[in-house]
Amino acid sequence: LVLTIVIAEAALQLVPKEIQSHTLIRQYAKRRQKNPDEVLLDRAFHHSAMQKLARKLGAGQVERMGRPDIVHGTLLQILETPLNWEQQLRVIIHTQDDQVITINPKIRLPKNYVRFVGLTEQLLVQKRVPENGEALMRVERKDLKQVLKELGSDHRLGFSILGKPRLMRNVAEEASEFENPSAFIGGFPRGHFTENTRRLLDAVYCVDRESLDAWVVAGRFVYDFEWAIGVAQGRIDASSKQNGQS
Ligand SMILES: C[S@@+](CC[C@H](N)C(=O)[O-])C[C@H]1O[C@@H](n2cnc3c(N)ncnc32)[C@H](O)[C@@H]1O
Repeated sequence: LVLTIVIAEAALQLVPKEIQSHTLIRQYAKRRQKNPDEVLLDRAFHHSAMQKLARKLGAGQVERMGRPDIVHGTLLQILETPLNWEQQLRVIIHTQDDQVITINPKIRLPKNYVRFVGLTEQLLVQKRVPENGEALMRVERKDLKQVLKELGSDHRLGFSILGKPRLMRNVAEEASEFENPSAFIGGFPRGHFTENTRRLLDAVYCVDRESLDAWVVAGRFVYDFEWAIGVAQGRIDASSKQNGQS
């Protein structure tokens, strides 16, 4: 039983070509001793260049871009968990520019955001990190539907404020009835899943009447899933035995 978390339509990409020559981007890249096409788009640093991008691509598309911190925060919540240590978690990041990043469960993700940005830039430029040896992260331009098929996903649920209202605990219980469930969480700051993503899902659930941050939804779901499949109980029982307590 392995749960796949898909951070879908994530706001994680290198600076797009439309604004690579923007003064702000050139200065930023120079400061970081990189080329403009080797740095992550980040609204915290590139706001005015992104305003220009919005005039080219449309405000609706651009307001969903440039938030790599969402992926970082979400990964921190779910990778260092008992579910992952028990090898029952797989994490995939699907980016807005349709790249699919797979993560080796053995990764020790940098807790520091600046280091995470550096690692992700290296990944997107080289297509894998580290460059040699066992890959800890790998990126491919691949159809998400195909990836899920290869993983043998037998149930795909999505989280969205537009979904059917349901307690998180009950969503986790439903997922635990499958062998290879996958759960989609939006890796974007605003808006909703596009129709392309929505089409992949068997069910969509809303777990609160307010919009929550992606890392809150991910952390709570993984925790409730651990309960639903008995991982939490199993680990407590094992540590009670070790300590000689009943
Ligand atoms: C910041 S939200 C995106 C904004 C969007 N308005 C929303 O709330 O769905 C990031 C992701 O967290 C999940 N999410 C946030 N609030 C949720 C809720 N109340 N119920 C279910 N999922 C939620 C969704 O997967 C969403 O794509």
